[in-house]
Amino acid sequence: MKKKVVTKDELDRWIREAKMNAEFPQHRAHGAYGNPRIDKNSEIICKECGTEFGCDINAGKDTCWCFDYPNVLKSKSQNCLCKDCLSKKIREKKMVIKKEFLDLGRQPIANKFLKEDEFNEEFFFDLKVVFDEDTKLVSLKEFVKPELMFNEDYVYHTSLSVPMVKHFKEIAEMLMKEFNPLTVMEIGSNDGAFLKNWLNDYTIGVEPCGNFAKVTEDMGYQTYSEFWTTELSEKIKNDGHVDFDLIYAANCICHIQDLDDCFSAIKNILSKKGIFVFEDPSLLRMLERGSYDQIYDEHAHIFSVTALDNILRKNGLILFRVDNLSVHGGSNRIYVRHANIPTDLIPDEFVRNNLQKEKEFGIDKFQTYEIFAERVEKSKEDLCKLLSELKEAGKKVVSYGATSKSTTVFNYCDIDETLIECITDTTPDKQGLLAPGSHIPVVDRESVNLKDFDYVFLGAWNFKDSIANRERDFIKAGGKFITHVPEVMEFS
Ligand code: TMP
Repeated sequence: MKKKVVTKDELDRWIREAKMNAEFPQHRAHGAYGNPRIDKNSEIICKECGTEFGCDINAGKDTCWCFDYPNVLKSKSQNCLCKDCLSKKIREKKMVIKKEFLDLGRQPIANKFLKEDEFNEEFFFDLKVVFDEDTKLVSLKEFVKPELMFNEDYVYHTSLSVPMVKHFKEIAEMLMKEFNPLTVMEIGSNDGAFLKNWLNDYTIGVEPCGNFAKVTEDMGYQTYSEFWTTELSEKIKNDGHVDFDLIYAANCICHIQDLDDCFSAIKNILSKKGIFVFEDPSLLRMLERGSYDQIYDEHAHIFSVTALDNILRKNGLILFRVDNLSVHGGSNRIYVRHANIPTDLIPDEFVRNNLQKEKEFGIDKFQTYEIFAERVEKSKEDLCKLLSELKEAGKKVVSYGATSKSTTVFNYCDIDETLIECITDTTPDKQGLLAPGSHIPVVDRESVNLKDFDYVFLGAWNFKDSIANRERDFIKAGGKFITHVPEVMEFS
């Protein structure tokens, strides 16, 4: 007898149906399971609130939007719930609706450069990434204790980056011109690159890293060397500060693990007509570019406009403007106000466009993240293959920029000194030390003649053009660059 050949489509469908059987008995309840009933009318009635809502299975699809949620219905005889009631039930039951999609392996503190005698105490954690079906937020599965990352030893000096100093001067000028705030607070004020553009009598900083808090105190800005919490917002109020017209934060809010507390603290201290402006890496840009190295210990979340819109609303705030920026490989600057200011209830067209663009990309669908994870695995395979081939061919590789991003890449791809000889970096605090996890030596750019190497791996790929321009002589001498964004490739 001839054996029946099962096509891949059939197999996929069986798997989906089996999954449905196990996890989504509610579909069987309305007769859809296994044999989708193709109704002209795909609407069904929510058994909780009685409203009509769409069922994708009834509409003839193989999957339904509710597959992305955990099953809250115990009995097969129960009918389906609409999205709002299902989300409410999940929250009531405190069920986890954070679904893991990416595992980047054991990772160290991305900015903790170390000496050889510190290897035994080096801290590692599992870098896994989850998607929250309720708010659409992408976060780390396991957060690292903030004190392990942000302390006296923190080495990222904003003022050492000329493009970033320019960036903060320009944004300060723009905010001054457009919003004219009298009182200003920066959260995550680092070494004062933004603060220094404002009068110190009316401006304060918040910076948990004591080394930097001291720098801005010395510049004349009162600086609270603490983490941003509701408790701190109360303390600042109790110290006699009036509410702030502008609260600004750059590459900092995505570090804060408890976003509900963070935003209610903002609400607590933002003046009635004040604005809260913050910028962080964009999830959409990360997904488009495949730049998984945006994910490291400090980035507790990678924000989409969609998720922020949901979480800010929950906390009585409203997002009224979004600027798409090129810094840090693609960021969004988000403008926020109190939700009860009537004139600003209508978000501007950029907010709507951003939400639309994200929806079109599928930022609210778990499947998008599963596809991204496959792309990341492929990137790892390609990079490991390329570097091994170069090693076998006796080629020498150096990395450019001891970035937090490269910590993720080197540890995820098991890249060490045998594949990349050293990393050049302009930051004195990193030079002479070994990179986190990979233990590749970090050296001053000036101490290295790039012509001694055949390839330069771009750890700071987001500065690709300026690095390639600066290192023209390396290219002229036959050298090549390697980048892994948007995919692993060589170029010259
Ligand atoms: P980050 O991407 O983790 O913020 O860090 C950027 C690091 O890259 C910082 O240590 C400075 C370094 N760097 C160089 O050494 N040379 C360069 O040309 C650039 C753009 C960055």
